[in-house]
Amino acid sequence: MKADAREKLYEGKAKIVYATDRPGTVIQYFKDDATAFNALKRGTILGKGVVNNRMSAALFERLGKAGVPTHYLGTLSDREMLCRRLDIIKIETIVRNVVAGSLAKRTGLEEGTAIRQPIVELYYKSDPLGDPMLNEDHVRMLGLARPPELAWMRRTALRVNAVLRPFLARRGLLLVDFKLEFGRAGRRLYLGDEISPDTCRLWDAATRKKLDKDRFRRDLGGVEEAYQEVYRRVLGPSGRA
Ligand code: TMP
Repeated sequence: MKADAREKLYEGKAKIVYATDRPGTVIQYFKDDATAFNALKRGTILGKGVVNNRMSAALFERLGKAGVPTHYLGTLSDREMLCRRLDIIKIETIVRNVVAGSLAKRTGLEEGTAIRQPIVELYYKSDPLGDPMLNEDHVRMLGLARPPELAWMRRTALRVNAVLRPFLARRGLLLVDFKLEFGRAGRRLYLGDEISPDTCRLWDAATRKKLDKDRFRRDLGGVEEAYQEVYRRVLGPSGRA
């Protein structure tokens, strides 16, 4: 089926979600479009959609084997992933292993400072508000997730970190921090969205060179090359993790 022949359910900054003939499923289509600073900055990262789709698929498969329920159902093409249809919880869950980005700004600690025990942060997924940070009381007040759901999300986010950090370390990549989104399907929760250089900070383990979207956010150059490097390290020459 041609991409434009099916019903578009949602278009975000980096992905389009399409309906399918199979109830309870959707297709995530990964674009090359990149935005930063709540879409104040816009650009294109050639080949990003393919990298993010393939890398997310590999990491979701790995997480599934480790017992983390994800929305991933299969890879349809270079840019298309078949997913369980989720009702996305409007919380961005961030896990941090090393100080960077907004945590460096908030605390005054130098970027690159190690964090002994991984940190979990919650942000309100709201473009008009610019994704402000929330605590658990705010989440309860806003009714975004019930306390047991939030507890599960925190636990699962740390479990994802415990699986992905060594997996990426074996490939010479330091998992500095990452963002997760969760959603509901029926009475169950699943990990959704994507896990890619758009949503993770990944540094070369030896040189600490940034190999993620910070190259785009901060105009560091070599953006496409960094995405391709991560792709090669995660998927290997065979294209399979
Ligand atoms: P931060 O340091 O800017 O708070 O970002 C923490 C992590 O979350 C980093 O890996 C990038 C990712 N992230 C997103 O995926 N989407 C966003 O909108 C932002 C601000 C960060």
